[in-house]
Amino acid sequence: MTDAVLRVRGITKSFGAFKAVDGVDLDIAEGEIHALIGPNGAGKTTCFNLLTGSLPLTSGEISLRGNAISGLPMDEIARRGIVRSYQISSIFPDFTALANVRFALQQKRGTNFDFWRSERTLEQLHGRAMDLLDQLGLVEWANVRAGDLPYGRKRALEIATTLALDPQILLLDEPTSGMGREDIGRVVDLIRKVAKGRTVIMVEHNLSVVEGLCNHVTVLARGRVIASGNYREVARNEKVVEAYLGAAHA
Ligand SMILES: Nc1ncnc2c1ncn2[C@@H]1O[C@H](COP(=O)(O)OP(=O)(O)O)[C@@H](O)[C@H]1O
Ligand SMILES: [Mg+2]
Repeated sequence: MTDAVLRVRGITKSFGAFKAVDGVDLDIAEGEIHALIGPNGAGKTTCFNLLTGSLPLTSGEISLRGNAISGLPMDEIARRGIVRSYQISSIFPDFTALANVRFALQQKRGTNFDFWRSERTLEQLHGRAMDLLDQLGLVEWANVRAGDLPYGRKRALEIATTLALDPQILLLDEPTSGMGREDIGRVVDLIRKVAKGRTVIMVEHNLSVVEGLCNHVTVLARGRVIASGNYREVARNEKVVEAYLGAAHA
C-alpha cells in the first residue's frame, strides 16, 4: 500500500530471550479505524508502546508519511501526531473534568508561564476545553471532580484529554474495557465522531465493536501478524479461529 500514513516494517521487541513482538508489519491507511486484535499476551499493548516510542524497538522500522520515526523519543513522536489515549490513572481525580482537559491543552502548548498568564489565552483555553467536553458529551460533567465521574464518563474524559493534544493518529487501548452495554454504545459513537479527519488504531476485545467500527483488522498471536483484512475476512480465517480457541482453552 502506497498511501499508508503509518508504515511499520518488521518491528520486534525482545524481553531477554522472549520476543513479545516479532517482526510485525502494518500499513495504516489515512483516515481509517484500524483494529489490532488477538488473544491475551499476543503483543498488542507492546506494539502500541513501540508505535508511540514509549518502549525502544529491538529492531524494525516505523515511518510516518514517509519520514522515519523509529528511535525518536516519545514526546517528539507525540509532537508529530501519534498519541495514545491516556490511562485513567493519568487523570487527576481531585480536579474537575474541565481542569483535566485544560491541563492537557496546556501540555500541548508547552509550559511557558508568561504565555499562560495572559487573560486572553486563558479565555481561549477555556473555550477550547469546553468544546472538547461538548464533543465527548461531558458538558454537564464539566465541574464534577474527575474522581467522582462514573466509569464510562471517566473513559470519555480520558479520550478528551488525548484529543486535546490534537493527534493525527489516535491510539486507543481497549477503550470499551470494563464497560456496560450503554457506555459501550456511547464510546463507539464518539470514536466514530472523533475519527473524522484523523486515523485511529485501537486494541479492542469486543468483536462486535470491532465489526461495527473498524475498516481494517490486524490479528496478532504470539507476537506475529496471523491475519489482516476486513472483519469478515479475518473472522473466517482458520489461523484466527485457532488462535482464539487455543487461547480460550489455555
Ligand atoms: N516489560 C516486559 N517484560 C517482560 N515481558 C513483557 C513485558 N511487557 C510485556 N511482556 C510480555 O509480552 C507479551 C505480550 O504482552 P502485551 O503486549 O501486554 O500483550 P497484549 O496487550 O496483547 O495482551 C506477554 O507475554 C507479556 O507477559
Ligand atoms: Mg494489552
